[in-house]
Amino acid sequence: MDKELLKQTATALVASGKGILAADESNSTMGKRLKDIGKPNEESYRQAWRELMFTAPNISDYISGVILYDETIRQSTLAGEKFTDTLKNQNIIPGIKVDEGLVDCCDGENITKGLEGLETRLAEYAKLGAGFAKWRALIHITDTNPSQKCLDENAKSLAEYAYLCQKEGIVPIVEPEVLMDGNHTFERCKDATKQTLTSVFKALKERGVYMKGMLLKPSMVIAGSTCPIQATANQVAEATVEVLKETVDVDIAGVVFLSGGQSDEDATLHLDLMNKIGKAPWPLTYSYGRALQAAGLKAWSGEKENVTKAQEVLLHRAKCNSLASKGEYSPSMENV
Ligand code: G3H
Repeated sequence: MDKELLKQTATALVASGKGILAADESNSTMGKRLKDIGKPNEESYRQAWRELMFTAPNISDYISGVILYDETIRQSTLAGEKFTDTLKNQNIIPGIKVDEGLVDCCDGENITKGLEGLETRLAEYAKLGAGFAKWRALIHITDTNPSQKCLDENAKSLAEYAYLCQKEGIVPIVEPEVLMDGNHTFERCKDATKQTLTSVFKALKERGVYMKGMLLKPSMVIAGSTCPIQATANQVAEATVEVLKETVDVDIAGVVFLSGGQSDEDATLHLDLMNKIGKAPWPLTYSYGRALQAAGLKAWSGEKENVTKAQEVLLHRAKCNSLASKGEYSPSMENV
């Protein structure tokens, strides 16, 4: 394991004022996003959207790494430059999603699969230019779940994935997402997040994962999306930082949040408030998919004449999140 390389990559990904753009939607998820803007799920549209984002002027001011999907890491700009080169030429590290969907665990719960053949795939992705990877476990809250069994099985897979990545010189992003779907309370989400992260860090340590060479991508502590009582932004920020401090190893290189279906502005505000609290032992920044892309995608709507406008909208979100990662954002910045 090349610890120096892992540490260097992980640290670069969470450099001050920077975060990660999650552009790793599978083709079917990208199909849903394209449907929302009235466009067919064709490779030309998937390629065009990714090219628009990766070539947005000075995007590297805010973005340190981009998570790609298997199709995307092999694609090029229309001018013929490999996307991985487009990114590297701007000092942006290409990453890759390596999990492969869900299998049943117990009682309607799921485990993320993708360990089979992972070493071979990682070796190929490293050759294609990936410096980091992502694996997402999905944790559902119901009246009785998550079960400890489901948490432990997912944690074990995350730890094995992280170990294999590090062996290959690839920084693992460990993503246990506690889903917002459902009517669970804020307190219930807090407990489930604590239980999830405790299980994840136990498994990571048991597998000997190098903490300084990994990143954690957690969800924030938020009440279920259909829960009638929602916490305030300050409560979300405080509870999230509190849970992280209780459960997360102080040595990891950083925490890069997912947005998980929050509105763009909520995701930015919550991150900002967490950084305003300060004193976290790790950089707290973003690895947003929807919260970085949604507004730009809508502005683009699949039309060539909207490319410049869409890039401006994307850059605005990226800039707001960059400021939030330093605790320097204000909602008034949205009115420009
Ligand atoms: O795995 C999820 C993505 O990498 C982050 O997406 O910010 O839309 O939740 P999201």
